Amino acid sequence: MNELLDYIEQKKHDENRQGEALNLALNESEFKNNKHFYIESYGCAMNFSDSEIVASILAKQGYGITTNIFDADLILVNTCSIREKAEQTVRQRLRTFNQIKEQKPSLMVGVLGCMAERLKSKFLEEEKLVDIVVGPDAYRSLPELLHEAEGGQKGINVLLSREETYADISPIRLDKNGITGFISIMRGCDNMCSFCVVPFTRGRERSRNPETIVEEARDLFNRGYREVTLLGQNVDSFKWKGEGKNDDKEAAILVNFAQLLEMVALVNPLLRVRFSTSHPKDITDDVLHTIAKYNNICSYIHLPVQSGSSSCLERMNRTYDRDWYMNRVDAIRRIIPDCGISSDVIAGFCDETEEEHLETLSMMDYAQYDYSYMFYYSERPGTLAARKYTDNVPLETKKRRLAEIVEKQYQLSLQNNLKDIGKTYEVLVEKISKKNEAEYCGRNSQNKMIIFPKGNYNIGDYVNVYIESANKATLKGRVV
Ligand code: SAH
Ligand code: SF4
Ligand code: F3S
Repeated sequence: MNELLDYIEQKKHDENRQGEALNLALNESEFKNNKHFYIESYGCAMNFSDSEIVASILAKQGYGITTNIFDADLILVNTCSIREKAEQTVRQRLRTFNQIKEQKPSLMVGVLGCMAERLKSKFLEEEKLVDIVVGPDAYRSLPELLHEAEGGQKGINVLLSREETYADISPIRLDKNGITGFISIMRGCDNMCSFCVVPFTRGRERSRNPETIVEEARDLFNRGYREVTLLGQNVDSFKWKGEGKNDDKEAAILVNFAQLLEMVALVNPLLRVRFSTSHPKDITDDVLHTIAKYNNICSYIHLPVQSGSSSCLERMNRTYDRDWYMNRVDAIRRIIPDCGISSDVIAGFCDETEEEHLETLSMMDYAQYDYSYMFYYSERPGTLAARKYTDNVPLETKKRRLAEIVEKQYQLSLQNNLKDIGKTYEVLVEKISKKNEAEYCGRNSQNKMIIFPKGNYNIGDYVNVYIESANKATLKGRVV
C-alpha cells in the first residue's frame, strides 16, 4: 500500500513538476550581476508561472539567477497549501535552507505563494529564519521588501488584489526545453469548493487583458516556442470587458474563453494551444466547437470530477451533479471524438459512504479517463468543509478507496493506450528521453507522451509517429 502511495506521489511529482527545483534554462553567464537568487516552486502550474514573473521582477533589480543553492544570496520558495503534505514538504526544505543560512548569515530566505498567503505573519513567528513573506498578488513589492530585509527588518506583504494580473510583466522563462510555455490568463477563484484552500490563498477571480495574452503567445512563438498552455483555476469563466470607443458602452468589447482560445490559435497554426483547468459547470459547447475547429488547439481537456456521486458533489459544493458531468463528457465525445480527457479525484471526503465511492469508480468507467490526479482528502483550515463537516472517513479507509481509484485508473490508462497501437499521431518533439539518449519524447494532441528514435529530427519539430507498443504511462513508436 505504501509503495502504491509513494508511486502516486512520484507520478504527481513528475507530471506536475511538483517539488522539483526549477532547472533554469537561462544561461547563467548571461548575467553579470553581483547578486544571485535561487528559486524552487511547488504546487500547480500557476505557481511555476508566477515564479517566472518573480524572476522578471528580480532581474530588473540586478539579481541574476543561479541553479546552485550555495551560490545564492537569496533563496526563494514558492509554496503550495493544497494538501497538508504539500506544506510539510516546504517546511522540510526550509530547514535545509536554514542550515545553509547558519553558515552564511548574509543569505536571505523568502517564502512566496499560497502558504505565505495562508499563514501570513504566523510564518515569521513559526519559521524564525525566514526574512520575507510575500503573497501571490504582492510580487511587485519584492524589491522594497528585500531592501527592508537587508536593513534587518522582516518584510511581509500578503495583500490580495482584485485587479493584479501582472499583465505588463514579461516573464523570464524558467522551463528547460524552450518549446512549451505557460501563459497565465487569469488569477484567483470565485468558486467555493468546500474542500479547497485556493480561494483563500489566491483571492477573487480576475481575467487578464486578452491583447497582452496574445502578445505573449506571439512573442513566445517568435522565440521558437511551439506550445502554450493557458492557465487559470477555472478557464471557462474567463471574461474580459474592454473599453468601448469614446466610452460607448454598446461598443464595449467582450471576450469569453472560446473567443480567447480562437485569438491565441490564430497566432500561428504551428503554435499548439493547451489550457487548464476546465470546470465541468462552466465548460460550454461553444468552447468545444472552437477546439474542434482549430487543428492547433489540442484535443485534450482536463475536467476534474472530484467525485462521481451527486450527494458528495453537493457537500463539496461543486455546483454540478453526476448527470451534468456525464452530459459534459457526452458533449466532448460528440463534438471532439478523438479528445483526451483527464481528471482530478478526491477519495474519502467528509461523510463519504461506500456507495458514493463506488459511484466515483463507475464515473471513471463512464468517462474513460486517459489519466487522473488522485488524492485522499486532506482537511484545510478555514475552508467551508473544515467549518461545516467532520473529516470522519478513517485514514485507512481513505487510503483503501484511493488505492481502488488508482487501480481503476491504471486499467483505464492501459486500455486506452493499447487502443492507440497501429495509429499515427502528430507529435511535437519536446526533449531527449530520460531513459535513452537515442530517443526523443513528445506529446500528441491528446497529451499522451510518446517515445521514438531520434532520427534526424530536432527539438521543436512536428513529426508523425506510428505507435508500435504501449504501457499505462507511455506510447512507443517510430517516425513515418
Ligand atoms: N481549479 C482546479 C483545481 C485546483 S486544485 C479545479 O477546480 O479543478 C487541484 C486539485 O487538488 C483539485 O482538483 C482537487 O482534486 C485537489 N484538492 C484540492 N483540495 C484538496 C484537499 N483539501 N484534499 C485533497 N485534495 C484536494
Ligand atoms: Fe478550488 Fe474549486 Fe476554485 Fe478549483 S474551482 S481552485 S477546486 S475552489
Ligand atoms: Fe497549491 Fe496554490 Fe496552486 S495552493 S495548487 S499552489 S493555487
